[in-house]
Amino acid sequence: MAAVKACNILISGANRGLGLETVKQLSEDSCPKRHIFATCRDPDGPKSEALRELVKKHPSVITIIRLDADDPCSIKESAKKVGSLLGNSGLNLLVNNAGIVAKGTIQTSSVEDMKHTFSTNVIGPLLIIKEFLPYLQTAAKASGTPGMSCNKAAVINISTVGGSISTMPSLYDQFPVLPYCVSKAGFNMLTVLAAEELKADEILCMALHPGWVKTELGGEKAPLEPKESVEGMLRVIGSLTEQQHGGFMDYTGNTIPW
Ligand SMILES: NC(=O)c1ccc[n+]([C@@H]2O[C@H](COP(=O)([O-])OP(=O)(O)OC[C@H]3O[C@@H](n4cnc5c(N)ncnc54)[C@H](OP(=O)(O)O)[C@@H]3O)[C@@H](O)[C@H]2O)c1
Repeated sequence: MAAVKACNILISGANRGLGLETVKQLSEDSCPKRHIFATCRDPDGPKSEALRELVKKHPSVITIIRLDADDPCSIKESAKKVGSLLGNSGLNLLVNNAGIVAKGTIQTSSVEDMKHTFSTNVIGPLLIIKEFLPYLQTAAKASGTPGMSCNKAAVINISTVGGSISTMPSLYDQFPVLPYCVSKAGFNMLTVLAAEELKADEILCMALHPGWVKTELGGEKAPLEPKESVEGMLRVIGSLTEQQHGGFMDYTGNTIPW
């Protein structure tokens, strides 16, 4: 059961994998007044069928919004749409979950893979934070309580231990995914700098590693099921305070070195 009590939540890449499981668990918990903006790049396409089915079960809780992390116009449009639905309410929790992996080494990584991973995993989340910031600020102001929490206003960046500069060298043999790791290291720096900028507004910002999870991205060999990973992440997210602002943790609550 999720410990997250945030009311208005937005999740990117919500149509499958960890994003979909997050929407599922958050919509099943009995938090009154909750609304989830489940964003994905192709709401009507075949890859969003499971999300559409979930909405049928919780029509008053989940709204699907189109958001392509690779397309600045779509990010702007999605923020406009969410803003009109929020009215005077703010956005309590923004989960930057959408991401792509590309395999490769120095010898084999293509320019295209480097650009594409950087665009989706770094530039996309940066623009998402930028466009949704006014709604996070509204939520932070409206809360009337000091300090930081995901129930007040927070940005959670779903990163990976693959973006940890100090840890990744020992895992590189097993996971030769250079474009992915380089982009996620950039995403980690984005987290740290966003945390600096958001501090004055008391908007919590941190990075979370979900573990190695059986999804399209994680592959079949991964030891964790999405259910366990997301249960853990929601437990961690629900427990965050200003102590973890600007930090990097895994789904069990352990701190990860940058
Ligand atoms: N699984 C793991 O072991 C693992 C480990 C560490 C970190 N992570 C991180 O966890 C996050 C979720 O991964 P996952 O395992 O759930 O992967 P996944 O099953 O492959 O799902 C990725 C999600 O991101 C979406 N996405 C990709 N490009 C997008 C774009 N341009 N705009 C909007 N959405 C986009 C996908 O949507 P489409 O259906 O449209 O492609 C999908 O919903 C990622 O950031 C990943 O780096 C995962």
